[in-house]
Amino acid sequence: MTDIPAAARQAVLQARHLVVFTGAGVSAESGVHTFRDALTGLWARFDPMQLATPEAFRRDPALVWGWYEWRRQLLLGVEPNPAHRVIAALEQRLPRVTLITQNVDDLHERAGSRKVLHLHGSIFTPRCFDCERPYKFEGAPAMAAEQPLEPPRCSSCNGRVRPGVVWFGEALPEGALTAAFSAAEDCDCLLSIGTSGLVQPAAQIPEVAAQAGATVIHVNPEAVAVHSANQYSLQGPAGRILPLLLADD
Ligand code: OAD
Repeated sequence: MTDIPAAARQAVLQARHLVVFTGAGVSAESGVHTFRDALTGLWARFDPMQLATPEAFRRDPALVWGWYEWRRQLLLGVEPNPAHRVIAALEQRLPRVTLITQNVDDLHERAGSRKVLHLHGSIFTPRCFDCERPYKFEGAPAMAAEQPLEPPRCSSCNGRVRPGVVWFGEALPEGALTAAFSAAEDCDCLLSIGTSGLVQPAAQIPEVAAQAGATVIHVNPEAVAVHSANQYSLQGPAGRILPLLLADD
């Protein structure tokens, strides 16, 4: 038995081109913090303007680098959950799947997804703040907790190394952004999983797909408002809801 409407399940399993669009909620059951959940979200405990802008890095590079190294350390200790694994399985099963994530973790890749469009960058691809030369991590960070840590220096220009994520006020990676919007226009079904839909321009992606006539299915413990017959809100944690898509097959 499933509590997924048959039409929604059919739209996913018979899609010609499925777009999967994920946010922090898809990694929540792996033990990764979301940003905006009331008590547990990162932005409930930390001020994004002190940690996630170029100005913040210029002002206090050790504070910012230490915070991201703390998050990288947490990510190295967690595993993909059933939601990540179902998404990877859909890629094997359907003719075409485009996976777009706002997450800076690598849990989709570790679950077996081969191509992931990272709209907000990756915590695992740092680069020089000044000359943008990529920097290679050596080993895991040894952090007791979130604490300031002086960033390493670029071997080419001696600039400070910064996290490979997109900060507030910065442009999204152009290639990933273009590919994401063109997939949204082309797809016949879009699954939007674990996102508050508050950060632009990523938040437009489900709407672009809906306008182009695709079935749009939201998966979130909170009810998501839907306005037409080919939109669905599947209420519940992604790790419970997504396996139902492939159940009884
Ligand atoms: P948010 O923290 O804003 O939203 C997380 C969403 O996941 C919420 O709607 C939760 O209800 C939902 N959620 C929580 N647990 C879940 C579960 N087990 N299964 C499914 N959903 C669950 O995170 P994002 O929407 O990803 O940007 O935030 C977008 C961007 O804002 C992030 O990429 C980050 C942040 O500032 C940058 O770092 C640039």
